[in-house]
Amino acid sequence: MRVFVTGATGFIGSAVVQELIKAGHQVLGLSRSDAGARSLITAGARAHRGNLEDLDSLRSGAAASDGVIHLAFIHDFSKFQENCEIDRRAIEALGDALAGSNRPLVITSGTGMGNTVPGQPATEDNFDSNHPNPRKSSELAGISVSERGVNVSVVRLPQVHDQDKQGLVTYSIALAREKGISAYIGDGLNRWPAVHRLDAARVYSLALEKGIAGARYNAVAEEGVSARAIAEAIGRGLKIPVVPKSVAEAPAHFGWLAMFAGRDMPASSALTQRRLGWHPAQKAGMIDDLDHASAFRA
Ligand SMILES: NC(=O)c1ccc[n+]([C@@H]2O[C@H](COP(=O)([O-])OP(=O)(O)OC[C@H]3O[C@@H](n4cnc5c(N)ncnc54)[C@H](OP(=O)(O)O)[C@@H]3O)[C@@H](O)[C@H]2O)c1
Repeated sequence: MRVFVTGATGFIGSAVVQELIKAGHQVLGLSRSDAGARSLITAGARAHRGNLEDLDSLRSGAAASDGVIHLAFIHDFSKFQENCEIDRRAIEALGDALAGSNRPLVITSGTGMGNTVPGQPATEDNFDSNHPNPRKSSELAGISVSERGVNVSVVRLPQVHDQDKQGLVTYSIALAREKGISAYIGDGLNRWPAVHRLDAARVYSLALEKGIAGARYNAVAEEGVSARAIAEAIGRGLKIPVVPKSVAEAPAHFGWLAMFAGRDMPASSALTQRRLGWHPAQKAGMIDDLDHASAFRA
């Protein structure tokens, strides 16, 4: 297939590009810079110049392709709501180009959208349309586009890690370094699910190749790693104290990260494993990668 990939130069997107090329697909990657275009060409893909806010560039990339994987996102969390709205408009534009065909559109969300019952793992079949996380607008856009007859599926991601980056934990490391302590909230038993970057990439290629319209897939290898275990790994890595914070103290300490830091958001991938025949293959879990993280090397 000729696959248009947005976010193709990013942490996960670059692994998706490799996975697609390995599987024999041709990749057209969205790039907003010369450096990004060069890195795509080096990776064996073609570059399509554009931007998430240039909706015509998204439509023309999708129109030139047999399928689309959408991973681009503006990760400025101080404008998270605004950036989620940009994502909604981007998904709608990609949908415009694919309407009336069966060409697949695979979009990206977070596993937290499926945490509908406190304490229970998020599952693929659950969606909380009133979720406080504004990222729900990505899934709502997917639903609205699928109502226009587009073949949309959703890959929901937990914290995606390798030794260089670990999802939101990368921001926790920077915060801990700045504050000189590694903190968790309350007893720190709230959980964040995780997956290795290369395992996540495989879920995208399988969703593209054999995803069912309307399906959601949880790219989850570890159902839940406790916030305390993560804080302890950061404390070990930075050689700083590990300190509990109360719920009341959390906003002042964590800033924008407070909206995620205390959340218990375990997630299951049992249905995804069964439906896509996907199984996590990487041995390193989140804490293994944190224990070897490049952020802690001098
Ligand atoms: N990493 C995680 O643990 C995690 C967890 C949950 C969900 N996700 C979601 O997974 C997706 C990929 O995440 P990631 O970690 O790979 O992100 P990333 O490394 O920050 O990469 C973001 C990608 O989006 C592109 N991009 C940013 N702003 C853009 C704009 N205005 N127009 C066009 N492209 C733009 C970037 O292109 P440039 O190279 O030009 O900057 C890059 O290719 C995102 O939707 C993210 O929210 C990630």
